[in-house]
Amino acid sequence: MKTIILHSYKGGTGKTTIALNIAISFAKKGYKTLAIDADLNAPTFESIFTGLKPKYKFNDLFGVQKKKTELKPPTPKDLPVKSLIHENLDLIFANSKPQFGVGLLSMNKNFHSEALKKLYHAKQEFEKLGYDYVIIDTSPSLNLASINSIIIADASLIVLRPNKYGIAGTTFLLKELYSMLGTVKRKDYIVFNQIVVGTPAKLVTQWQKHFKKRLGVETVGTIHCNCAIALNMLFGNLIIEDDAENEFLETIDKIVMKLHRDLKN
Ligand SMILES: Nc1ncnc2c1ncn2[C@@H]1O[C@H](COP(=O)(O)OP(=O)(O)OP(=O)(O)O)[C@@H](O)[C@H]1O
Ligand SMILES: [Mg+2]
Repeated sequence: MKTIILHSYKGGTGKTTIALNIAISFAKKGYKTLAIDADLNAPTFESIFTGLKPKYKFNDLFGVQKKKTELKPPTPKDLPVKSLIHENLDLIFANSKPQFGVGLLSMNKNFHSEALKKLYHAKQEFEKLGYDYVIIDTSPSLNLASINSIIIADASLIVLRPNKYGIAGTTFLLKELYSMLGTVKRKDYIVFNQIVVGTPAKLVTQWQKHFKKRLGVETVGTIHCNCAIALNMLFGNLIIEDDAENEFLETIDKIVMKLHRDLKN
């Protein structure tokens, strides 16, 4: 089983859109896939998959419920629900109530070091359930909950918008991560998303070189701003439908194939 995390320094870069489309792509290729909404600050799955009402959510793993009347804390195996959009795709939702979301994010280091152990355990349990790929969607910036998810991942896709702030913020994020965590086995990759029409191709190439040379991080995808993607979202749909001409889906497919190859060993 391989775990892939989607992260970014800034919000709104396209993590959730890319995470879900990568998850469905793995599922369609025949891999048993679990997509986790680990964006505790601003969960998305519950507004996308409105027909599903999971009994337990990601936050429940960390045992923050205090009321006696509440359900017994679940084991990781109780969390996944069938996505109903593909037989190979299961989902874990996040709880948006502030005491679970923002509350959990503001917990101290001790809490998060315990949470990290629980995450490692959950990963083992998900492997036992037979998942080939786990895709984790996080909340942006350097927060302890997201850092925990990064620590347990085999690969990260750092999504950014190619502009001055996106480049500077992502450079900062990667440098901080490397200084905090040292050199780890995880493979990190950059995805440039929402490239605005008129952006000189030369500039994007320059930025790609910047990440490769300064931080050793390879770019695996460049996706242009495409109103059809935003329009899809207007109706609460983040899964982009098959269309042979679609640059977005072609890039998703390329990323999925590359991750599959790179993570084999
Ligand atoms: N390539 C693209 N072209 C146009 N719109 C896009 C593109 N990628 C994503 N979007 C739109 O940008 C918005 C933000 O996307 P998304 O929610 O996936 O970002 P996010 O990084 O998960 O945000 P957050 O940090 O708030 O969780 C959505 O409306 C989505 O439809
Ligand atoms: Mg998101």
